Amino acid sequence: MCGITGIVSQNRTDIGQILVECSSKLTYRGYDSVGIATVVNGMVDLRKDVGKIEDVNEELGLSKMKGDRGIAQLRWATYGAPTKTNAQPHFGCSRDFYGAHNGNLHNYYEYRRELMETGHHIRSENDGELCVHAVDKYYEQTDDMFEAVRCSTRDLQGAFAYAVGRADEKKIYAVKMGSSLVAGIAEHETIVSSDLPSILPLTNNVVYLQDGEMVELTPDSVRVFRVEDGKELHREAEITSVDSSAAEKGGYPHFMLKEINEQPQVAEDVLGVLEGPKSDKWIQMIENSNRQYLVACGSSYNAGIVGSYYFNRLAGVPIIPAIGGQFEPLYGKTLDEDSLCILVSQSGETKDIINVLNRVKNDDLGKTLGVLNVIGSTLMFNADAYIPMVCGYEVSVPATKTYFSQTIIFAYLAAKLGVRNGHLDPREGEQFISALKKNLPRLTKDTMNKSGILAKELARTLIDVPDLYCLGYGLTDGVAREGALKIKEICYNHCEGMYSSEFKHGPLSIVTDEYPVFFVTTTEDSWMIINHINEVTCRGGRAIIVGEKEDKLLPYVDNDGDYLAVPKSPVLLNPLIDVIPLQLLSYYLSVDKGINPDLPRNLSKTLTVD
Ligand code: F6R
Repeated sequence: MCGITGIVSQNRTDIGQILVECSSKLTYRGYDSVGIATVVNGMVDLRKDVGKIEDVNEELGLSKMKGDRGIAQLRWATYGAPTKTNAQPHFGCSRDFYGAHNGNLHNYYEYRRELMETGHHIRSENDGELCVHAVDKYYEQTDDMFEAVRCSTRDLQGAFAYAVGRADEKKIYAVKMGSSLVAGIAEHETIVSSDLPSILPLTNNVVYLQDGEMVELTPDSVRVFRVEDGKELHREAEITSVDSSAAEKGGYPHFMLKEINEQPQVAEDVLGVLEGPKSDKWIQMIENSNRQYLVACGSSYNAGIVGSYYFNRLAGVPIIPAIGGQFEPLYGKTLDEDSLCILVSQSGETKDIINVLNRVKNDDLGKTLGVLNVIGSTLMFNADAYIPMVCGYEVSVPATKTYFSQTIIFAYLAAKLGVRNGHLDPREGEQFISALKKNLPRLTKDTMNKSGILAKELARTLIDVPDLYCLGYGLTDGVAREGALKIKEICYNHCEGMYSSEFKHGPLSIVTDEYPVFFVTTTEDSWMIINHINEVTCRGGRAIIVGEKEDKLLPYVDNDGDYLAVPKSPVLLNPLIDVIPLQLLSYYLSVDKGINPDLPRNLSKTLTVD
């Protein structure tokens, strides 16, 4: 949520252009409003408005803004409606101070009142403005920008990061207090940002920051300090191997389609990691714990559900899937020093997950194993160990390739664990692993080819359907939920994903003539799915099947178009590839409805708030 970018340059006089270029790479974090503040001849030029960066740029000429330093912010609204006044950056009381934040201030209402009572002129209802006023307040007292920024953090509670500057200093300061922040050093210019993609157009020389730290940027230096006592920390820059081309569409109309098409490569890459030397340690962490949870949100949670079925089926180990925000109230009291929390998060920053991570670490309640995509994320730095999803950047807001990678990771670890603990016959285990390695990348590609056209045609028949269900059974439970989430998220339909045998316990009453219900199945469960299909079709409902083509299922669809068939594959690979037709269907339905699937309304890819 929200993306901030600050740049200080020695030689540029047109900083707006590079600020637009760099900050637009953070669009996935927020697109309610955008703003840029630059410093020209000792004066702050601040332009902002509601809308996506390309539209606001056209309206306000952001890329033409002059100056050698500045701060840009892309907003995902939480405190204060998405209006021009609430857009960031903000001024302090005086127009000499400019700054923007990412995250939430928990003491917003009290602190806003306190500032106003002491004469501060607060213009917006946005909590980011208070960060700038806090700096302004302490500058009054110290007459020193470094001290003012350091002290400002005392007044602010919550999880946030902010960047701030003063018109008369050729410096930008930024603070990390619970939200992500990285800095970069290029030739005679430096940058600080909420995330790596906006740094990469300038440099791959990166300084990672930790919570409780602040940075001071000049054109030639990035100095890191501890907020608590102002002590300088001599942090070396690291060269990142992350490729900036990952943040380009590469000829595809949308990032989502590009990322779906990258899945064969993802399969190959993640299996390469799983075959590497660290797998043993990850499996040992599961073996050495007496109770295991798989904690995640959204698509990552759906992948966790698929994972739990694999762990039960292949290893006889009950790994409980838990929603991040629900973990503490539902399972918090069951943790002890022998527990293991497998924390699954594409961004590695999701607050609901970081809350669980912090609780386990602070109270010494067992081990944490991160499963994450973003290298340098809070989860990566703080989990006891982590498994990288190796997907490269996932730019589109809907998760596709990272969900896919997560399911492969769980299937692989479950099989290895099963062989080790004797639950799985070694020959069967080896067959499965070798099917993953030898067949999965090709099968993934074949599935895309086979189901792409079918999904596109089927999408056209669903344009006017307001409401539908997506049901799975056994290993496809999580797959159906993921398909439903994609349809909800980027097509704005109501679509509920649920367990197919539960449908008769109430939801069945929604079925009338032609009411569409998706059934996602593996070949071993189709006998059971037939029962559930019958319950729908005998009431006039329309069954749409996702799975391998089976003669016994053919009579249950009205026409060929209602069968999203995937290629023939070993049964335990079915749940991995069954998601692909659903991803493609949601993509085409979204585009047919005139929606940009990469940036669905109201959402942000990185949710660093509670
Ligand atoms: C859905 C989607 C979200 C995320 C969820 C968790 O397509 O992308 O539901 O899966 O916000 O995000 P991470 O995995 O970054 O913790």
